[in-house]
Amino acid sequence: MLVARSVEELREALASLDSSKGKEGGLVPTMGALHEGHGALMRVARQSTAWVAATIFVNPLQFNRLDDLARYPRREEEDFRLLQEHGVDLVFAPNPEAVFPHDWAAPDLDLNGLDLPWEGAFRPGHFKGVATVVSRLLDLIPCTYLYMGLKDYQQCLVVERLLHLRKAMLGLPGPAMVQVPTVRDADGLALSSRNLLLVPDQLARAKGIARTWSWMKAHGQGLEPEVLIERALERLTAEGLRNEYLALVRDGSLDPWKRGDGAPRALYAGWLDEVRLIDNESLPIP
Ligand code: PAJ
Repeated sequence: MLVARSVEELREALASLDSSKGKEGGLVPTMGALHEGHGALMRVARQSTAWVAATIFVNPLQFNRLDDLARYPRREEEDFRLLQEHGVDLVFAPNPEAVFPHDWAAPDLDLNGLDLPWEGAFRPGHFKGVATVVSRLLDLIPCTYLYMGLKDYQQCLVVERLLHLRKAMLGLPGPAMVQVPTVRDADGLALSSRNLLLVPDQLARAKGIARTWSWMKAHGQGLEPEVLIERALERLTAEGLRNEYLALVRDGSLDPWKRGDGAPRALYAGWLDEVRLIDNESLPIP
């Protein structure tokens, strides 16, 4: 596995992949503290393209709280091992100055409002930060496919918009986005780097999100959307979570769901003590 820390090393590594493996490659952007959710992205990438690059970069632009940035788990040695096991060809693990040098100007990205509700409302500026870093990483690592996890549903919509902007408005050849389903543990808890911050009692409470998805799937049919959301929020509170939002949207969008729209997607964010968790699930209640 090639390791690049600087933009120069990255250029050399990409040139060598280009000559040894060919032009078609994929990018898996991550913030490290890797787990089998990230592993699924790498597996899908490995199976579908000639070379796979991953990035490990805890992007300061997408953290709206300094304490959250400082606490974000970092464990590069284990990360490199996992990347290697998954047959990743190149890892770009830069420091912030390599990604955002002083003479670099952030592009003005019109995210069409997709950055504003739900996650965007509770984490102002978060999605601009995500779109900016993904755009920069795509400038540095031109690729055919971009692998993103559905675990971060709204992020997928924002990045889809970014790819559209880069292609249609800026004329940049863009990768196609490949969305990978959420990987969960045996109890349905979505794997997340932030789970590393949870002690066993908190992990047990975090599983209340999965229990609530099961309850919503079983009881959603007969309830009005507002009532379903209210009851589910009560359950999440009883499970020991401090709720931020629970929304039902038309799948593939952020539009409010109404009956007749097909199976809705439920979006959730909440806190377990000091750790913020997000999840989403498709509910079979057309
Ligand atoms: P990070 O949270 O490290 O996630 C990297 C990628 O892994 C994202 O596409 C995310 O959706 C996916 N992922 C995380 N947990 C997953 C799970 N349980 N199942 C499937 N996929 C999962 O998301 C980010 O980093 C950053 O915002 C980034 C896109 C790298 C920009 O900084």
